Amino acid sequence: MNHFNYRDNELYCEDVPLATIAREVGTPVYVYSRATLARHYLVFDQALSSLDHLICFSVKANSNLAVLRLLGNLGAGADIVSGGELYRVLRAGGDVRKIVFSGVGKTASEMREALRAGILIFNVESRDELVLLDRVAGEEGVRAPVAFRVNPDVDAETHPYISTGLKENKFGIPMAAAHEHYRFARTLSNIDIVGVDCHIGSQLTKTSPFADAIVRLNQLIQGLADDGFSIRYLDIGGGLGIPYGKEDEPEPPTPADYGQTVSAALAPLADLHLTVICEPGRVIAGNAGALVTRVLYRKSSEAKHFTVVDAAFNDLMRPALYGSFHPIRPVVHRDDRPVHVTDVVGPICESGDFLARDRELPEMESGELACVGAAGAYGFAMASNYNTRPRPAEVLVDGDRYAVVRRRETVEQLVDSESIPDFL
Ligand code: LLP
Repeated sequence: MNHFNYRDNELYCEDVPLATIAREVGTPVYVYSRATLARHYLVFDQALSSLDHLICFSVKANSNLAVLRLLGNLGAGADIVSGGELYRVLRAGGDVRKIVFSGVGKTASEMREALRAGILIFNVESRDELVLLDRVAGEEGVRAPVAFRVNPDVDAETHPYISTGLKENKFGIPMAAAHEHYRFARTLSNIDIVGVDCHIGSQLTKTSPFADAIVRLNQLIQGLADDGFSIRYLDIGGGLGIPYGKEDEPEPPTPADYGQTVSAALAPLADLHLTVICEPGRVIAGNAGALVTRVLYRKSSEAKHFTVVDAAFNDLMRPALYGSFHPIRPVVHRDDRPVHVTDVVGPICESGDFLARDRELPEMESGELACVGAAGAYGFAMASNYNTRPRPAEVLVDGDRYAVVRRRETVEQLVDSESIPDFL
């Protein structure tokens, strides 16, 4: 469910024509719907209502300050993976007591900043990291609240690059060594053990891997409780998939299915009164955003037809990086358009620069606008300046109004921090 729909053959975000935004802000431009973001958050929250829970939006999916503010206002916490993301959440007015810090390579200075801010939990991924965190917390004169990220060795059955819960992945500590890690942590004077954490992957289209992971963690948590640890939080990570609109794609579970699965799997731990933390990113932001781009040229080779647009893989990396499918629609719908098979490509000098390959699409003309859907998560957040391309503007729509929530970068900004040394 999202708020990008045709009205009188013109594509709108909520009550604003995408063509108006493209005319006034330029292209390529990311457009987010406030109503969709809020709806996704509230539906997810509702799906977990039978559990004591905290939703920590995964900032890496979409870190725009306006998006963070909007979700924070609805009660969301934040799952961060860097000092930069901590800074963003605080700048957006986020509640520091709802921040969890994930990631396999936190630096001492990132730990220090997070300790000073007073975040809820550090999700620690190795013994080395724990030892450093203990030292930094000691220097700061505080105790660090810790959950170990445990790798449950569950196959998330998703793209290998975003599958994280298998024992060959770099994430977490192995299940078999987990209890011993907790015992070691207990010997450190500046560490407070508060929880257990896992995250098995992203864009999951089944609920069973979530259930399998939780069932495996149950045993560990029960064992820790029996051993005198006071485990208050179970962080089950993010990962719920979304529909991208591909014909043969597996239909992802609904948030309600997910909520039921999680509560059923947690039932044996009811006596422990845990607070469940979830770190959803894509399911909140993915279908709440689109990338609007303009068709520059059309061309054909003996083998193919190409639609060259002004957005490229630096703006939206997912198709090039993961072979991901994003739905593409002309902003103006016409019944009389012939349908053809085309590659939608950007201006970058690499054959990997495509937004769609061999896609059946209504024929579009030069100068027309196209809307690349489901781009609200891992879209702008992964954009780069490759080819010295300023990153797109970002716009947030709210009913019949919109605001530019990130100005388009300028070429001057891109070179601003560079210098030519005297010896040249
Ligand atoms: N928690 C942790 C520890 C994570 O590593 C991630 C995503 C999430 C939560 C949020 O997962 P989500 O609910 O969004 O699936 N760039 C890739 C996705 C990478 C996901 C990395 N971790 C893509 O564009 O598909």
